[in-house]
Amino acid sequence: MTNEINSRLQDILEDAGQSLNNAGSLEALNEIRVRVLGKKGRLTEVLKSMKDVAPEERPAFGQLVNDARKAIETRLDEIRAELERKLLEEKLAQEVIDVTLPGKKINTGHKHPNTIALEELERIFIGMGYEVVSGPEIEYDLYNFEKLNIPADHPAKDEQDTFYINKEIVLRTQTSPCQARVMEKGKLPIRMISPGRVFRSDEVDATHSPSFHQIEGLVVDKHITFADLKGTLEEFAKELFGEDTKTKFRPHHFPFTEPSAEMDVSCFKCHGKGCRFCKGEGWIEILGCGMVHPHVFEMCGIDPEEYQGFAFGVGLERIALLKYEIDDMRLLYENDIRFLETF
Ligand code: DAH
Repeated sequence: MTNEINSRLQDILEDAGQSLNNAGSLEALNEIRVRVLGKKGRLTEVLKSMKDVAPEERPAFGQLVNDARKAIETRLDEIRAELERKLLEEKLAQEVIDVTLPGKKINTGHKHPNTIALEELERIFIGMGYEVVSGPEIEYDLYNFEKLNIPADHPAKDEQDTFYINKEIVLRTQTSPCQARVMEKGKLPIRMISPGRVFRSDEVDATHSPSFHQIEGLVVDKHITFADLKGTLEEFAKELFGEDTKTKFRPHHFPFTEPSAEMDVSCFKCHGKGCRFCKGEGWIEILGCGMVHPHVFEMCGIDPEEYQGFAFGVGLERIALLKYEIDDMRLLYENDIRFLETF
């Protein structure tokens, strides 16, 4: 009995050993395990013949089968470990990263120079306690002109090359109508800026476009004087162009302010000596401003005896062109990525 068992076990061990040596995959290993050690496996078959063995031989028989099972299991584990190691190596070899390859460029969006300039401007005025207000791009003639002291027969109306939608509605030619809209609401005092798109039927060239942007400013309170206007706008110019920037106010005319002025800043390229940038002037004009006209106050329901105010209007593109030393406004609208990426 023992001899027969012994040779059967030997046979199983040899067969298992050989199959294991040839197993090339984890699936094959599993098949061998089922075939040899499984419920219907060859070793289990041997164990079932226990009943035919004399009782005194059973312990030794059991021991033999157990030893064989252990030997096969140990070998199985060894081969599995070996296979797993090989598979991992192959996987790593496939996934190898060539760190010398050039990286992929990630294209992130970035801000348009107009937006950068606008945010800078807003930051300055918000810092001085101003509110940012927006108004409609399609506007009533009433707000764009009438309430700003520009009546129907006023030459300023022709000057602004207006796009008319109908007799009463226009594409706003300036952000100034926001002044009238905010004043009409009657919440005083007012300290606001209003940035936005404006439209004029101009031909496109290096300094003109049918659509551009302005930033309107308005302060209304008791005891506001031209000194407040000057102080505020000087501070603004210094923040925007540098602490050593000088300002100059030249008398001008706007229908909705009295007195009116244009503000120049000393050329930040040549510091006033005169250069190509400032066309030899040493000064660069950057905005229009003035004290709110009493007529405008009256038309917007504010008593000019009690309240005073100042207003200003800045061209956003002009500021962007100056700040970034761009000499052609068209560059701001063409959206050429190569140009925009330089900001
Ligand atoms: N709206 C004027 C324009 O488009 C600019 C301007 C000048 C606005 C003087 C103002 C101001 O508020 O006070 O030319």
